[in-house]
Amino acid sequence: MTASGDTCPRTLGVLLCLFVGVVSGCSPESLSLDGKWSLSNSNGSVSLAAQVPGCVHSALQQQGVIQDPYFRFNDLTYRWIALENWTYTTVFNVSARVRNKQKVLLSFEGVDTVASIRLNGVAVGSTDNMFRRYDFSVRDLLRDGVNELKVGLMSPVLYASERREAHSAYRVPPECPPDVQKGVCHVNFIRKEQSSFSWDWGPSFPTMGLWKGVCVEAFDVLQLVQVSSVPLYNSGLSQWSVQVELHVDAVQTTHGQVSLSIPELESEQSFQTQFVSGKTKNIFILHINTSSEVKLWWPHTHGDQPSYQLSVRGSQDGLLILNTKSKVSFRTVELIQEPVLGSPGLSFYFRINGKPVFLKGSNWIPAHSFQDQISPDVVRNLLQSAVDANMNTLRVWGGGVYEQDLFYSVCDELGIMIWQDFMFACAMYPTEDDFIQTVREEVVQQLRRLKSHPSIIIWSGNNENEAALATDWFSIPASQRPTYTRDYVTLYVNNIRKIVQEEDQSRPFLVSSPTNGAESERQGWVAADPYDPHYGDTHFYSYLLDCWDWRTFPRTRFASEYGFQSWPSLSTLQPVSVEEDWSYDSDFTSHRQHHEDGNQQMLLQAAFHFHLPNATDPLKRFTDTLYISQVTQAQCVKTQTEFYRRSRTEIVEGKGQTMGALYWQLNDIWQAPSWSSIEFGGKWKMLHYFAQSFFAPVLPVGFEDADSLFIYAVSDLSHDLKLRAVGTVFSWARPGPVCTLSSDPLLVPGGSAVAVFKQPVAALLAGCGRCTRTTCLLTFHLEDASGRQGPTNHHFLCSPKDAEGLQRPNITAKVQEAESALVITLHSSSVAPFVWLDVGNIPGRFSSNGFLMASGNMTVTFDAWRPTSVTELSRSLSVTSLTDVY
Ligand SMILES: *[C@@H]1O[C@H](CO)[C@@H](O)[C@H](O)[C@H]1NC(C)=O
Ligand SMILES: *[C@@H]1O[C@H](CO)[C@@H](O)[C@H](O)[C@H]1NC(C)=O
Ligand SMILES: *[C@@H]1O[C@H](CO)[C@@H](O)[C@H](O)[C@H]1NC(C)=O
Ligand SMILES: *[C@@H]1O[C@H](CO)[C@@H](O)[C@H](O)[C@H]1NC(C)=O
Ligand SMILES: *[C@@H]1O[C@H](CO)[C@@H](O)[C@H](O)[C@H]1NC(C)=O
Ligand SMILES: *[C@@H]1O[C@H](CO)[C@@H](O)[C@H](O)[C@H]1NC(C)=O
Ligand SMILES: *[C@@H]1O[C@H](CO)[C@@H](O)[C@H](O)[C@H]1NC(C)=O
Repeated sequence: MTASGDTCPRTLGVLLCLFVGVVSGCSPESLSLDGKWSLSNSNGSVSLAAQVPGCVHSALQQQGVIQDPYFRFNDLTYRWIALENWTYTTVFNVSARVRNKQKVLLSFEGVDTVASIRLNGVAVGSTDNMFRRYDFSVRDLLRDGVNELKVGLMSPVLYASERREAHSAYRVPPECPPDVQKGVCHVNFIRKEQSSFSWDWGPSFPTMGLWKGVCVEAFDVLQLVQVSSVPLYNSGLSQWSVQVELHVDAVQTTHGQVSLSIPELESEQSFQTQFVSGKTKNIFILHINTSSEVKLWWPHTHGDQPSYQLSVRGSQDGLLILNTKSKVSFRTVELIQEPVLGSPGLSFYFRINGKPVFLKGSNWIPAHSFQDQISPDVVRNLLQSAVDANMNTLRVWGGGVYEQDLFYSVCDELGIMIWQDFMFACAMYPTEDDFIQTVREEVVQQLRRLKSHPSIIIWSGNNENEAALATDWFSIPASQRPTYTRDYVTLYVNNIRKIVQEEDQSRPFLVSSPTNGAESERQGWVAADPYDPHYGDTHFYSYLLDCWDWRTFPRTRFASEYGFQSWPSLSTLQPVSVEEDWSYDSDFTSHRQHHEDGNQQMLLQAAFHFHLPNATDPLKRFTDTLYISQVTQAQCVKTQTEFYRRSRTEIVEGKGQTMGALYWQLNDIWQAPSWSSIEFGGKWKMLHYFAQSFFAPVLPVGFEDADSLFIYAVSDLSHDLKLRAVGTVFSWARPGPVCTLSSDPLLVPGGSAVAVFKQPVAALLAGCGRCTRTTCLLTFHLEDASGRQGPTNHHFLCSPKDAEGLQRPNITAKVQEAESALVITLHSSSVAPFVWLDVGNIPGRFSSNGFLMASGNMTVTFDAWRPTSVTELSRSLSVTSLTDVY
């Protein structure tokens, strides 16, 4: 959406300039310094070539100095890397043409993190914030012939600890991560990816490097630093306008003309303007005269994602001084917090283009410890996986990074709404002047870079810091509490919120997540209970209570985090482990688990409903345990998500009208147990296959309350449906239906959840032959006059471990090629729950997986991400179902 972004050169204008034949001097000229640099540690004992953009760890690995940092225990072995200081060096020539320009800048799109920069032996500046771009004026330092540029990076671990020492008046907790995370301390003192010092799902790799482009930019008149455009809707006049901001660095005050146009909307306007000397922002409003013809941008499944081309041209005395194009998409977003009938508190939901939208999705974390190793394909594949699972929202979580431009552009194209945190997470933060100043610059730059993206629907100040303060995570004595509250308000309210309000009036801002929103504000920004289900959003985790019981979960207005851990599959672990690691009690297995008691909690949760794997063969026992952890996670998150979706309309005991379900977490940073639904490398866990169904636009949800079975019809559609529930009762003992049930058709308005079926379980069983809770189970779907609507769902009347007659099924699978698709046909001799197909390390995914085979037959296709064959697939295919682990 932006003409300029996180790669060098930033100046799309130049080429166009030359193209239209304007004399040189219209500017700017760029020289990219990306490519091979040299890199060495403090005493020169390690010296190697290094790619820019890149980082020290990646360079060491690429040059064979170290092994794969993700292999086994290498996160500990390679701890020394981040305790060293490293220097990046490059040499380059600049032409006289560049040196003779009025202004020459040395621009760093992203430095990780603490650096001092020298050009030809002269200090030109320093950096302390990974999330900022830095420009240094270097015209007079450049030489004819060879120039030498050195970037000296200080150990981020040392820097953070020195900053902590310098902050002696009071502590700024947490001092260190819990031991189980095997991390390093004081990450809150450095403006850097907070999870790089370790997290409960990720390793400690405090990176250092030039993680984005470096270039020399030269110009005579001005340079366009950034163009941002934000569509604004005047509902009174039913009229759109586009607020266009040009962030310009001008050599001297320049008068000129700027013309803006969106040809497709027949809108064009010219402005006389003045670019004041130095870095300034010029704002223009382009009125859209054909507002009624504007095609709106909609979230996935709610409509299309059109965009328009905005052209920006600037001239001075007939000479073109800037010329760029960017994209504009039109949509409105409102966060509605207003009184709710029959409930204390306030609503909390998003209206997109005036329509209430239930936000379905997950939370995004950095896709790799080393950002330079995240390819465009990885980004695209993960985001495509999100929409393919019927998600419409991702929350870019505040402990990672503001993602790269490509991420947001793909979200724009796919209709994924982004809840964008600012990068502060699970900690108190200092508020010294220099810290606040660097944060202010970070926030301004990121807002300007990102606000043109329609995908971003909300800014949020931090992750869980209101809750950390309110519920005293860090044992702060009551007498000191005001100090921390003051710091909190200073950082997130008086600085970040204020900047957002100045820079972007087109989106809501929340100070934290979870928060009570307007109610938190009323309580002085830190609510007594930020988890209050009557207000705002909540995060909820419980590993010890039975997740199959929906009563466990708070009936919140908006669930922005919840989840359960599982292990990735063996094929994902294999490249980073050896055979002796493949048991649930190996050193490796506990080393990769960064959440206290995580491995035990998974078994405890599994044991509520399943027999735990007990095979005598150790490898089988291990793979069975990986499988059962995925079954458990999938079933837990399904239950919780379905509870939230069926709560979208009701108020029960003052709670409900839930309008968001974003589980924790979409993706993984490495190969380890975590809450993710997609393994490192892109393989879908069983949870992600389940999400395809539980996020479906039309969904039947079954559950029990007071010994009655309910089926709700949930619809996210715009139009009304007349739906009835159709159920089939099966016996665990043999495939094929025992009896069927159905309800009368009921009106299900667009965007609602309606109970369409209710029957006491005893009556249901009595009407179905010799069925009991332990011998039978139920599948069901929704139908209208035109046929089936939405997926088939199931309800177990007992735990599968208590199911009577459940046999070890004889499942046969046949792989065939049909119309260039790989098709797997399965037959089962008996009812088989959680049937799981795995093709090892053949990348790709199935059309469905982890399914219940109740009728005996099933056909799925495999979408391979590289060429494969029927033979290879057949050879790699394994089929597991629940009883295989007994
Ligand atoms: C250089 O520093 C490294 C790491 O601190 C150390 O292991 C090595 O012995 C040093 N080498 C020399 C030549 O001083
Ligand atoms: C790294 O630089 C810091 C600051 O200049 C210095 O205190 C420290 O000793 C250096 N560390 C090494 C390993 O050279
Ligand atoms: C850079 O300048 C030096 C000194 O004038 C010259 O020897 C060298 O060939 C130049 N390098 C390039 C790539 O032009
Ligand atoms: C569009 O509307 C603006 C303001 O309402 C007006 O100044 C301009 O002349 C109109 N342009 C066209 C092409 O109708
Ligand atoms: C499983 O099914 C296959 C194919 O129908 C059959 O050949 C085989 O004998 C069956 N095995 C068992 C143990 O029933
Ligand atoms: C399953 O498929 C087989 C072979 O196509 C067919 O004979 C059988 O009737 C099917 N069984 C069920 C329960 O649909
Ligand atoms: C494994 O567990 C199953 C189910 O509890 C039980 O029937 C079986 O005897 C156990 N096997 C071993 C080897 O302990």
